[in-house]
Amino acid sequence: MNDLQTSETTHGIDFASAGPGTPAGILLRRFWQPIQVSAELAPGKAKPILIMGERYTLYRGESGTAYVVGFRCAHRGTQMSTGWVKGDDIRCLYHGWTYNGGGACVARPAENPPGPAANVSIPSIPTREHLGLIFAYFGEGEPPAFPPYPAFDDGGLVEASCDYFSCNWFQSYENSADEVHVAYVHSSGGSHHNLRNEKALPETWPEDAPFGMVRHSRVNNGPERTTLYIFPNVMRIVVPPFNGLKGAGGWRDTYITKVPTDDEHHLLFILHSAVVPPAEMPAYLAARAEFEERCAAARPTEEVTQDILDGKLHLSDVLDHPRLLVIEDSVAQAGQGVIADRDHEVLAQSDVCIVRMRRLIGAELLAIAQGRPGGTWVYSGEKPQRGF
Ligand code: FES
Ligand SMILES: [Fe+2]
Repeated sequence: MNDLQTSETTHGIDFASAGPGTPAGILLRRFWQPIQVSAELAPGKAKPILIMGERYTLYRGESGTAYVVGFRCAHRGTQMSTGWVKGDDIRCLYHGWTYNGGGACVARPAENPPGPAANVSIPSIPTREHLGLIFAYFGEGEPPAFPPYPAFDDGGLVEASCDYFSCNWFQSYENSADEVHVAYVHSSGGSHHNLRNEKALPETWPEDAPFGMVRHSRVNNGPERTTLYIFPNVMRIVVPPFNGLKGAGGWRDTYITKVPTDDEHHLLFILHSAVVPPAEMPAYLAARAEFEERCAAARPTEEVTQDILDGKLHLSDVLDHPRLLVIEDSVAQAGQGVIADRDHEVLAQSDVCIVRMRRLIGAELLAIAQGRPGGTWVYSGEKPQRGF
């Protein structure tokens, strides 16, 4: 493949906008999306969330069930997350109007009678949990089958995390298709991906699949590795442990999902399965607890990323950050600009998987923009091949 002009890969398609009514927004809303790490929402707590440009209230009832309802109270519009969770209902801060998880108003204490008001409600979004993540379905009609991807079957410990990136979701998904970046972005020596270098650049090629795309890769004619792109925004890959857990738990089967909060930010959810032999479990859990403590005490990755982009720090100054890997990726991606300019880039042979990803997803976005249904991707639990 010769160097490509951008018009050959983008066709003027808007990959970045994910708000309501945009082609990518419509596409993403057809799938269950992770919105929160389950462990980070205690029973009885509520918080505001922003997903694909729209605000909602996420809360966990005292029974343990999670709900997503509208952002504002139907009465006079204050923010529901500032109120109180009562049982599995949420009560508005302002005048006590109370809604159940289905969004129905079940109490208006200052009215006569003070009970349910059949004609008053706030939106309610289908919400489920799987593998330590809270998922919600923001699309129209009945949600698709749940879960969107199967549990790991290797008996490993499932670990869930979420990082906030200050750039558009699609350049992050493109990054996931780009294996060459590993040799450069993650070459600092502190990051867990330091298994590639300039002398071991991969040869990669894409293959279309019912669920989206497979990336094949090989280094120095060695064994082949595959990575799955479960369209429109999930990746399944086998990776080494994060830094801080080097060697512990072995390589992990991993789902990574990129969910826009708005067009200039996204959440990156990582789900790992760590297969730890029983004899090593106590040491592993101790190492993990220490790693989690370091993460909790560390500066937020988006702040460090911004300092690096502003020239106040360099990646080489933050090699001891426990989430260095995330900072490396977010610096490279946010460094493209909050929304990457695909009109002024020079794609080359090694970008072949990005080009294929754009063509496949772009065809769906074009179909949606033209009022055609667009194809559907079906994931049946296929697994990636580790390769080394
Ligand atoms: S604004 Fe919510 S009860 Fe009045
Ligand atoms: Fe990366």
